[in-house]
Amino acid sequence: MISIFHFVIIFMLILEIRIQLSDESEFLVDRSKKGLIHVPKDLSLKTTILNISHNYISEIQTSDILSLSKLRILIISHNRIQHLVISVFKFSQELEYLDLSHNKLGKISCHLTVNLKHLDLSFNAFDALPICKEFGDMSQLKFLGLSATQLEKSRVLPIAHLNISKILLVLGEPFGEKEDPESLQDFNTESLHIVFPMKKEFHFILDGSFSTVMNLELSNIKCVLDDNACSCFLNILAELQTNPRLSNLTLNNIETTWNSFIRILQMVWHTTIEYFLISNVKVEGQLDFRDFNYSVVTHVFSFPQSAIYKIFSNMNIQNLTVSGTPMMHMLCPSQISPFLYLDFSNNLLTDMVFENCGSLTVLETLILQKNQLKELAKIVHMTKEMKSLQQLDISQNSLRYDENEGNCSWTKSLLSLNLPSNILTDSVFRCLPPRIKVLDLHSNRIESIPKDVTSLEALQELNVALNSLTDLPGCGAFSSLSVLIIDRNSVSQPSADFFQSCQKIRSIKAGNNPFQCTCELREFVKNIGQVSSEVVEGWPDSYKCDYPESYKGTPLKDFHMSALSCNTALLMVTIGAITLVLAVTVTFLCIYLDLPWYLRMVCQWTQTRHRARNIPLEELQRTLQFHAFISYSEHDSAWVKNELVPCLEKEDIRICLHERNFVAGKSIVENIINCIEKSYKSIFVLSPHFVQSEWCHYELYFAHHNLFREGSDNLILILLEPIPQNIIPSKYHKLKALMTQWTYLEWPKEKSKRGLFWANLRAAINIKLEQAKE
Ligand SMILES: *[C@@H]1O[C@H](CO)[C@@H](O)[C@H](O)[C@H]1NC(C)=O
Ligand SMILES: *[C@@H]1O[C@H](CO)[C@@H](O)[C@H](O)[C@H]1NC(C)=O
Ligand SMILES: *[C@@H]1O[C@H](CO)[C@@H](O)[C@H](O)[C@H]1NC(C)=O
Ligand SMILES: *[C@@H]1O[C@H](CO)[C@@H](O)[C@H](O)[C@H]1NC(C)=O
Ligand SMILES: *[C@@H]1O[C@H](CO)[C@@H](O)[C@H](O)[C@H]1NC(C)=O
Ligand SMILES: *[C@@H]1O[C@H](CO)[C@@H](O)[C@H](O)[C@H]1NC(C)=O
Repeated sequence: MISIFHFVIIFMLILEIRIQLSDESEFLVDRSKKGLIHVPKDLSLKTTILNISHNYISEIQTSDILSLSKLRILIISHNRIQHLVISVFKFSQELEYLDLSHNKLGKISCHLTVNLKHLDLSFNAFDALPICKEFGDMSQLKFLGLSATQLEKSRVLPIAHLNISKILLVLGEPFGEKEDPESLQDFNTESLHIVFPMKKEFHFILDGSFSTVMNLELSNIKCVLDDNACSCFLNILAELQTNPRLSNLTLNNIETTWNSFIRILQMVWHTTIEYFLISNVKVEGQLDFRDFNYSVVTHVFSFPQSAIYKIFSNMNIQNLTVSGTPMMHMLCPSQISPFLYLDFSNNLLTDMVFENCGSLTVLETLILQKNQLKELAKIVHMTKEMKSLQQLDISQNSLRYDENEGNCSWTKSLLSLNLPSNILTDSVFRCLPPRIKVLDLHSNRIESIPKDVTSLEALQELNVALNSLTDLPGCGAFSSLSVLIIDRNSVSQPSADFFQSCQKIRSIKAGNNPFQCTCELREFVKNIGQVSSEVVEGWPDSYKCDYPESYKGTPLKDFHMSALSCNTALLMVTIGAITLVLAVTVTFLCIYLDLPWYLRMVCQWTQTRHRARNIPLEELQRTLQFHAFISYSEHDSAWVKNELVPCLEKEDIRICLHERNFVAGKSIVENIINCIEKSYKSIFVLSPHFVQSEWCHYELYFAHHNLFREGSDNLILILLEPIPQNIIPSKYHKLKALMTQWTYLEWPKEKSKRGLFWANLRAAINIKLEQAKE
């Protein structure tokens, strides 16, 4: 024995005999596997179904079931009954199903009055077929199970006129001593199942022309002694050709040689059989070589395999599955093949399969999953002549596509292409069937979908999960795309315009990607929020931030960023605009309204107000005669007399002018000091002239009276003209100090500002003085 090869070709439905137990009036009693040695006596009279199988019952008598007048189904299989007297059931008029299989029956006595539908006597110890004349009366019989070690035509005759749906015939040892090859020809059944003895070389001589049989099942076929050992079996098969009704053939448990096996297949090929099922094949290579040579193993394979391929490829069937075998090749059928569906998954097929094959023109589905395919270009070429191919599955191979190699001439009929688990890269998008609707490319090595990909207008479903894509594809080239699966890629910043581009999208699955939660993602998240949640599969659970670290694991739905912080241009424009407005305003205020001047005035005003509150007014009011003393230079006397004094006196402010309120007999300085002491405030009209000529009059006095001390508020400085710092004599450091403290009022050149100037001045000196003192 050189090799064991196990494969299955599936096409057939094995007829199952079902027992209808659904009737509500049924009363089931199950006493199986109870170790019984007799039929139990305590059964309910209502029993309709009795199961006493798998016990040690050796006898069945009339009294055992006499009272069970309603019994319909009786199962006594797997017991030890040796002798059956069928008349024991004569009082069970309802009985229609009797299973006596797997007993030790060798004898049967028939005085039958029961009309059974199902009678199973298979797997017993009968020598001859247990068919009595009375069986001919069972007009309802649909199933008959038999067992025998010898077949005689005469024994079949009583039932030849019955139309039995299925006959099961179990042939036991020792078989074949008294053979009648034509013994089974009178079986009138659609479905025949013959079980040959196990572990025994097949040398039965039977006429296989069962004229009524449509469904034939043969179990336990062993012919391994030499290639001719199978001739008996092959003869049976050869005769099957004479039965045009035969459509289904099942072979179970075949143990044979390669040559015989191939001949079996060939034989079947020449019949009318539509559904051919072989299960459990053990093929042994008994070679004609004298010397055993292990390298011949390849020959063992190659000879029978090529023959098998030829047989397979030329089979006159629509569906063929050969899966899980070491099959390395499959030939192109020699003429136009009726194959519609071929499943060769999980074999060892290479790119050479169906090369230049023009005879698979009606093939619709081809499955080459899990083989040894390597070059996509060759597979593309393979499909070229398959004019009806709609579905191709070439997943789990090692396919790659080299753009420079070969023409990309897919068959135009292809609608669904499965390419998962290969090693395809971006280039695959340059070679896809033009009318493809469903494309599965998951678990490949795609990094991006090229922009210049030829458009696939019919593409509806695209699966590119488990690749290395960094962005969602736009639908420019896939105008009908409705389902996109792109989870588990490297998409970090999906394009926000995806939903705009892909208007027809019904479902997108893009979770488990390493999303970068930065400004760029905002728009995408917003767009996702706008489409219905059924469209986005796995939302929100499988959509999480991966970067930056602070957002890691945050669901995308909870990721928010403000518009301003994300839009640099907007931010710059906003800041710029605000700065500009401020600058313009400040400039305008400074240039046209002299803001600094106003500021100083307002400042003075508030200081004055503040101080006024702290002065013990009552005392002042008693001792003072004047509101203010005014000192000025002769040069400025015109302004003082025409502007200042009239303006203040108009408001009932009393002014002390040293030349007007002159006290005779006192020096000028004494008069000045007299004036200062009687006045609430001292106003100095500052100008370059004043500083240079008049200030000296006061310096000494002020120093003496300590009027320059911090917080002194008796002085009001009016700056009539600007005084450059450098013309103030350096000895007047007090004056300099006063002026740098901004404690002076500036005389405005513009008339419009003068109102504020006067108001400010008046506020500084206005105090209610007692009239009496004057
Ligand atoms: C043959 O098998 C097919 C598929 O299993 C089934 O549909 C058909 O009914 C069978 N034909 C007969 C005659 O049993
Ligand atoms: C009878 O009992 C046997 C053993 O428990 C079980 O396998 C079989 O299905 C039963 N038959 C019916 C018809 O219930
Ligand atoms: C069996 O079937 C044939 C044709 O289908 C019919 O002529 C014959 O009467 C049937 N016999 C019985 C016993 O039903
Ligand atoms: C076995 O058979 C092969 C092919 O016929 C041959 O090339 C090889 O030499 C043989 N080996 C031995 C050991 O005879
Ligand atoms: C062939 O197989 C396909 C897929 O399993 C099935 O749909 C079809 O009905 C089968 N055809 C026949 C003739 O059995
Ligand atoms: C590509 O197709 C052209 C024309 O159909 C053919 O001449 C050429 O040989 C093909 N090239 C390959 C590498 O198949």
